[in-house]
Amino acid sequence: MNISAKTKICMVIGDPIEHSLSPEMHNAGYKKLQIDTEYVYVACHVKVSDLSDFIKGVRAMNIRGVSCTIPHKMEIMKYLDKVDSVAKKIGAVNTIVNANGVLKGYNTDWIGIVTPLEKVISLQNKTIVLLGAGGAARAVAYAITKKKAKLIIYNRTFEKAKQLAKEFGGEALEPNAFEKIKRADVIINTTAIGLHPQENETPLPKELLTKNHIVFDIVYTPGGTTKFLKEARKKGAKIIVGTEMLLHQGTAQFTLFTGYDAPVDAMRKVLEK
Ligand code: ATR
Repeated sequence: MNISAKTKICMVIGDPIEHSLSPEMHNAGYKKLQIDTEYVYVACHVKVSDLSDFIKGVRAMNIRGVSCTIPHKMEIMKYLDKVDSVAKKIGAVNTIVNANGVLKGYNTDWIGIVTPLEKVISLQNKTIVLLGAGGAARAVAYAITKKKAKLIIYNRTFEKAKQLAKEFGGEALEPNAFEKIKRADVIINTTAIGLHPQENETPLPKELLTKNHIVFDIVYTPGGTTKFLKEARKKGAKIIVGTEMLLHQGTAQFTLFTGYDAPVDAMRKVLEK
């Protein structure tokens, strides 16, 4: 690392933040492109109650870029000078770029969904089941409808699925109406199931999974694959691990922060470690 007075600072903020892999991922990219004299990326533990002061700090210190993670993606929006139209539609910002003192918010989470999927399937006219209807589901719903695939939302609380389906143009699945899930092309889990303390649960009974499915779990665990993905793999389904979303939302951020194409393989290597 070659930090000098000219080095620009980028960072990820969240609460908690200690588990974040983003600093290693972005710094590996800077190193690979030999721009680690120009950029450095750190993590900062910022509480929601300190967001207003944090943004003042970004302006005062001319921080170049900020990645936002839980719980800041919605709350941060009101402190920014501009929010791009995609982030507005999703209702969340995961990326802030400071261009000559003007702070603009973007959302690259949907790119983290689309990029790994499009490596294995063309999404247009395919049927995608979205499990969950919370904050994370919104970027997925945007990605699916943007790519002109058919969106079916299944959520524990049916009303929330209905609301999200109405907003993005999809269908909400009635509780236990599983037949359509069996026939879908892709299943994407955005529920908290798979995350601690729900790591031993799965969001769907394994009887619904078939070898024709592509199953993407955006939950990522330090050990690798979630129980849901292990069951899907056993059934012969193609699986996509959650770190692929982390990687591709991050590579899109990398470009927004630096203007360079991200060295994807060097950044993936960090996550595989
Ligand atoms: P995030 O921002 O990570 O999406 P969230 O907005 O709290 O977090 O949404 C969590 C999602 O996981 C919701 O869809 C939630 O279902 P409800 O809308 O019914 O609350 C879902 N979820 C969490 N725990 C669940 C469980 N044990 N069973 C089924 N769904 C669960």
